[in-house]
Amino acid sequence: MKISLIGCGYVGLVTGSCLAELGNKVICVDNDSKKIARIKQGKIPIYEPGLEELILNNVKKKRLRFTSSIQEGVKYSEIIFIAVGTPPLENGEADLTGIENVARHIALNLSGYRLIVEKSTVPVETGEWVKKTISTYNKHKAEFDVASNPEFLREGSAIEDFMHPDRIVIGVESKRARDLLVNLYKPLNAPLVITNIRSAELIKHASNAFLATKISFINAIAYICDKVGADVEEVARGMGLDKRIGQSNLSAGVGYGGSCFPKDLDAFIAISERIGYNFDLLKAVRNINEEQKHFILKKVRDFLWVVKDKTIAVLGLSFKPDTDDIRNAPSIDIIKELLHEGVKIKAYDPQAMNKAKEVLDKAAFCKDPYEACKGADCLLVITEWNEFKELDFKKVKHLLKRPLIIDGRNIYEPKSMKEKGFTYVGIGRGRH
Ligand code: UGA
Repeated sequence: MKISLIGCGYVGLVTGSCLAELGNKVICVDNDSKKIARIKQGKIPIYEPGLEELILNNVKKKRLRFTSSIQEGVKYSEIIFIAVGTPPLENGEADLTGIENVARHIALNLSGYRLIVEKSTVPVETGEWVKKTISTYNKHKAEFDVASNPEFLREGSAIEDFMHPDRIVIGVESKRARDLLVNLYKPLNAPLVITNIRSAELIKHASNAFLATKISFINAIAYICDKVGADVEEVARGMGLDKRIGQSNLSAGVGYGGSCFPKDLDAFIAISERIGYNFDLLKAVRNINEEQKHFILKKVRDFLWVVKDKTIAVLGLSFKPDTDDIRNAPSIDIIKELLHEGVKIKAYDPQAMNKAKEVLDKAAFCKDPYEACKGADCLLVITEWNEFKELDFKKVKHLLKRPLIIDGRNIYEPKSMKEKGFTYVGIGRGRH
């Protein structure tokens, strides 16, 4: 099938290249012509495992190409995905300027039937607005359908998530639209959830809100564990084995970040308020998440006493492992606060340092974890990259001024750290 993806951000690039890999002819459009020029030179703007190879390979096989002309995208394909950003406005609502703009440009270039699919995360009822916008600017009265097909990719495992989804949600209002999308996704052999457009839109916000709720729930339990001497890892395991609860999203830590959960929660709370519902539950989820950063800062102060002029080795800057994304990363707020209190920061991250340098000009960036540890009063883990799990702890102990590890993601075993001679402080694991 011929597919167009409008928006070459995270979602657009992953979806476009995966659809090409499935054998479709895909054209990815972005109005940032510099970005398109860089991609054409093989310079992929984001780090995602496997993405660069996938793009280059499909370009070589002539199944994937890039353009800055939306007109070309609209003319080329029967199915057009909208995957532009929906950043937050000051009041938390999603800014739909990009979506409206794309819808208008699609309409102005419509000449025959097209299926326009919302891929970006959007508030419920956006499909309605896209439909109205296209009808208004559809000069040639071309036929079209609108559909919602939210994505559930996680950064760091996006290609795997695309190729092996738990489910594919398709919100449609016509048989033609339904058949096109069902056919497109047939090779993935995944369970399909076919609904109306509003339900599909809501499934996305409700899913992200629920996943964030699980994280804040376990973080609240971690707080209690610290107070009473229980271990949140054991509690989470004991809870998660109940199939009704499940193990996923029960890892306590410094809180969730990224470009999705914080923004989607704000947007969902704002939509709810607009329709007259006070979503107190999600407000509590958001508050607990903010508190996690203070929780870890308090641990640092509790152990270092006076923090001014102390040096802290920070491992992990991206909001999660296997990505260079630092959007809403807990690391940034935590480091900014420590710098503000006069702490010297020596940071290391396998992928995110270039991006972090742009926002943390007072931190020092190191070439590896050991350089970061050299002369530091404490080792603080903020992101659970695999390489941090296998450090040479003899070396770490020797390099640190004092053997103190504050583990914001519970990647180490308290007992084994104690045996190695460290003072170990996790989240919800008591003192060791
Ligand atoms: C999230 C959803 O998981 C995807 O299904 C969705 O498609 C995506 O948002 C989106 O809306 O585009 P993502 O933000 O990439 O994906 O990453 P997650 O793996 O969900 O992690 C989000 C944050 O929660 C990270 O900061 C992570 O460290 C944190 N987290 C996750 C925890 O603190 N504990 C957990 O148990 C799980």
